[in-house]
Parts: sequence; structure tokens; C-alpha cells
Amino acid sequence: MIKNFLKYIKPKSKNKFFFIIEFFILILVNFIKLIIKKIFTLIPIRIYENLLPYSLNYYHFDKLKLIKIFKTREELWHSAIEKIGVEKKISFIEFGTFEGYSIKKFTELNKNPDSIFVGCDTFIGLPERWNKMPKGMWNVDGKLPIIDDKRVEFIKGKFQNTYSEIEKNINTKNELLFHFDADLYSATLFLLTKLDKFKEYYAIFDEFTGHESRAIYNYCQSYDADIEFYGKTIGYSNTPHRVFCKIKHKYK
Ligand SMILES: C[S@@+](CC[C@H](N)C(=O)[O-])C[C@H]1O[C@@H](n2cnc3c(N)ncnc32)[C@H](O)[C@@H]1O
Repeated sequence: MIKNFLKYIKPKSKNKFFFIIEFFILILVNFIKLIIKKIFTLIPIRIYENLLPYSLNYYHFDKLKLIKIFKTREELWHSAIEKIGVEKKISFIEFGTFEGYSIKKFTELNKNPDSIFVGCDTFIGLPERWNKMPKGMWNVDGKLPIIDDKRVEFIKGKFQNTYSEIEKNINTKNELLFHFDADLYSATLFLLTKLDKFKEYYAIFDEFTGHESRAIYNYCQSYDADIEFYGKTIGYSNTPHRVFCKIKHKYK
């Protein structure tokens, strides 16, 4: 270990005296670096993951600071449908439906009789723990929501297993609006990469600062996608909570 450590200590001074001084300074600096790295090694991954979204908001999603703030998520949803067009034929796919509150609201906002609304969920709750929420949170025992609207359908199961069925409902002749409300990094990143084949689409993220912003960041890095932000609500830590945006490819 010491041999390996000393391998990287390479003073450059020609003068013997300065060489020795430099040698000891390099030892000290490298030793401090080693200690810092050891400390960072001991910090659990979950701490880094929980902190990353705040840095992302500050550096990467800085355009979010400039967009309009809505008081409630219902107001944000309303503005989203107004921007897309109340009468526009849309394919609205919701990832995370639970008892159907949000999908029902969207059916009330969009008036086109040929629009498609699909609610996707395990309907037995979260497939894994999300922050303090345990696996199985939002379990409705497999029962589908009852919504009196012929345009609505539900797809039951984990997105990772039902995606091919979900994709059949995405009609690219319609305006596409995807509601990401699964909360989890794993589910959100999976969906973003699958949906990458659609050149651009409107999206609403329900828990932006957290798992979802991490997933968006990683997706954009790998797929050269870009985001245009339109509106947000603010959460308890004064960070973007619900976000309405458009996801598009830079070069497609
Ligand atoms: C916060 S709830 C959705 C709330 C709903 N949109 C509303 O506003 O009324 C999150 C839902 O995502 C679902 N979910 C999370 N990960 C999933 C996955 N990988 N596949 C299917 N459903 C998932 C959970 O079962 C849960 O019902």
C-alpha cells in the first residue's frame, strides 16, 4: 500500500533542498486526499442520491428558475391542457394512477371525444421502497378506478412488464402527453428510455425534485435529449415539485 502511495509522489524540483520540501508537501497533500476519499467512501450511496437533485436544480435545470409558478397541481394541469389545446386529440398516458384522481381530472380538462387516456399501474402499490414510503404503498388490491368515460383504459402491472402493451396505445398522430407519477427513479428512467423513440412529447412530472429529476438527468445525458420547461409548482423545500415540460431530441 505504501509502495503504491509513494509511486504517485513525483517531485519535479532540480534543487535538492526544494526537492525534499516538495516531496514532503506532496506526501501531505496526497495523504489528506486519501483520507477525504476514505471518508467519502463510507457515506452511503443513498445520501449522494438524495443530495444530487438539489445540485441538479441549481446547475443543470437552472432554466426552471425562470418559469411560471402555479399554486396547485390542478392549476398546472389546467395550464398544460390549455397549452396543448382543450379540443386537441391527445394520447394521455399516466404512469402511476393509484385511485384515478389525476387521470379523471385530465379527462375533464380535454374535450376531444377521440382522445385516449390510459392509466398504468401495478394497482398493488409501489414495487420497491421510495424514500420513507414502503414497498406496497398506494396498494388498491388490484382494483381499477371507476371513471365514467369511454376514452379511459387501464393497464395493470409493472411498467417494466407491460410496456409493449402500453406502447400500443401511443398514437403519434395525436398530441402526446405523459404523466410521470410513479415517483421512483427506476420506473421513471425505464420509461424515459423506452419513450425515447418518440421524437418529442409533453410531460408532467409529479415529484420532480428527487428520483424523477435524477432519472431525467441520466436519461438526457445518455440519449441527447433536451427539456423545455413551461410551468411548475413549488414544494416544501422551496424546490420545483410538479413540472410541466416538453422532452425533445437535440438532433433527431
Ligand atoms: C403517487 S401514486 C400515483 C397517484 C396518482 N397519479 C394520483 O395523483 O392520484 C404512485 C403510483 O405509482 C405506481 N408505480 C410505481 N412504480 C411502478 C411501476 N414500476 N410499475 C407500475 N406502477 C408503478 C404505484 O403503484 C403507485 O400507485
